[in-house]
Amino acid sequence: MYNFENEDNIFIMDHPLIQHKITQIRDKNTGTQQFRKCVEEIATLMGYEALRDLPLTDIDVETPIESTKSPVIAGKKLAIVPILRAGLGMVSGIEALVPTAKVGHIGLYRDPETHKPVEYYCKLPSPIELRTIVVVDPMLATGGSGSDAVTQIKQHGGKHIKFMCIIAAPEGLEKLHKDHPDIQIYVGHLDRCLNENAYICPGLGDAGDRIFGTK
Ligand code: PRP
Ligand code: URA
Repeated sequence: MYNFENEDNIFIMDHPLIQHKITQIRDKNTGTQQFRKCVEEIATLMGYEALRDLPLTDIDVETPIESTKSPVIAGKKLAIVPILRAGLGMVSGIEALVPTAKVGHIGLYRDPETHKPVEYYCKLPSPIELRTIVVVDPMLATGGSGSDAVTQIKQHGGKHIKFMCIIAAPEGLEKLHKDHPDIQIYVGHLDRCLNENAYICPGLGDAGDRIFGTK
């Protein structure tokens, strides 16, 4: 039995707009265009929550009335790192909040037999160690891909890492949190379980295929 309620660093969303849009993408009759749009919108809503602790610094500004000090985001630009392919669908949703963010990419796919992640690409913006990094992937199933992606980012020097997924299985959330207790994990909805093919139930099917219209 899993209980994530009082776990530090795990944030399960309860906003009604996020829940409403997740229901839309679960529906097998939702087409590619609508699916993409909802994924993007969910990423924006979740990003708003996940970025609430970005550091601020005061700058001088002249209003039409007087001079004042007012806060802006401090430090190096944010890095958004989608796990290919499906994570790409969430990038524009976060760019809507932080248009100056840099974007890295991690290429991983699940071996259909073993369900273990296979790495094929990694390119991250430098200096990665000075950036807040938001790793995005709609699905956290066994947790293999997510955990592997975070390990790769750490090996490249990444330190301030947040992981954002739309749907998680308890098994995957437990693995990612156990492997990387230092990162903050944001989950749109925590589903029931994995099936015998390591697909999330009730889930939404294959996120990459639904975003890109492949099968
Ligand atoms: C999906 C999904 C995650 C991974 C989750 O990608 O987007 O990356 O599976 O599964 P896990 O938690 O068990 O590792 P997939 O391997 O289907 O690749 P794709 O995005 O290229 O379709
Ligand atoms: N990858 C997906 O796209 N969906 C799942 O349910 C599990 C892994």
